[in-house]
Amino acid sequence: MIKTDKKTMNEDSTVSCYDRHAKDYDLYQSAVVPGYQEMLDLVAEACRRYLPEEAKIIDLGCGTGNASLAILGKIPSARIFLIDGSGRMVKVAAKKISCAHPEAILGRRVADLARSDWDHGIEGEGLVGEGYDAVVSTLVLEHLPFDRYQEAIAKCYRRLKPGGWLLAAEGYAEEGSDMQEWFFEEMEERRKAVDPELSDFVARLRDEKETHYYCRKAEKEEWWRQAGFLQVNMLWQYLCIGLMAGRKPLCEAKTRQIVKQAAHLI
Ligand SMILES: C[S@@+](CC[C@H](N)C(=O)[O-])C[C@H]1O[C@@H](n2cnc3c(N)ncnc32)[C@H](O)[C@@H]1O
Repeated sequence: MIKTDKKTMNEDSTVSCYDRHAKDYDLYQSAVVPGYQEMLDLVAEACRRYLPEEAKIIDLGCGTGNASLAILGKIPSARIFLIDGSGRMVKVAAKKISCAHPEAILGRRVADLARSDWDHGIEGEGLVGEGYDAVVSTLVLEHLPFDRYQEAIAKCYRRLKPGGWLLAAEGYAEEGSDMQEWFFEEMEERRKAVDPELSDFVARLRDEKETHYYCRKAEKEEWWRQAGFLQVNMLWQYLCIGLMAGRKPLCEAKTRQIVKQAAHLI
């Protein structure tokens, strides 16, 4: 297990870093992070393939809403609940999404995913007891310590309908591989195309404040399976960034239905 902890920081330093550059996030992210748009496109494509047209989705660590917007581009009747630790990021996301898709936001919440109460009040309109069709999370879960990570995916599992999907893009570290080094070298190269003042400001902020917890894909796959997910697979990978999918089994519903029917017959 490899843990990359750039600095010893207080718990919310990663969130405060994003909060501080919420306005500049889109520009920096799309210009500098290799494979970012491809990753969003693949997340959206997976949603189009796996989810119903009126899907209800949680965007976990929504940032400025780019994953949600990509998804709504493919399935415009989807409805999305936004969650992020940064109030400013959620605000930017809500503004962008409600301009392009006025009916799409089910609700929003500013919450720390490392705490056990992040999902309080996320039922959203008409959703009490029903669950979500998918939880989508792009470049977020790698910021959680491993114990919190496992708690968070267990919670995602509980928030899903039977047959619902967890789709999460994250950074990984494979022992003996130079994928991370290569990825960060590419980022440095791309930074040259961005206004130096902005680029230095964001890069310095991230370097000082962000904490990542990286491990091997196989370890996270195992945690997903332990949480109950089936069909756990990598859908896409660009160097050290991978998009993993896992499905909550449908049979839970069948089991419940059989139990209900049996109870009815007695
Ligand atoms: C790299 S950005 C990704 C944003 C968006 N999903 C995207 O793909 O553009 C990471 C996001 O995770 C959020 N985040 C990081 N740690 C978090 C935590 N513990 N609780 C809630 N949000 C967190 C940050 O505030 C930030 O918006």
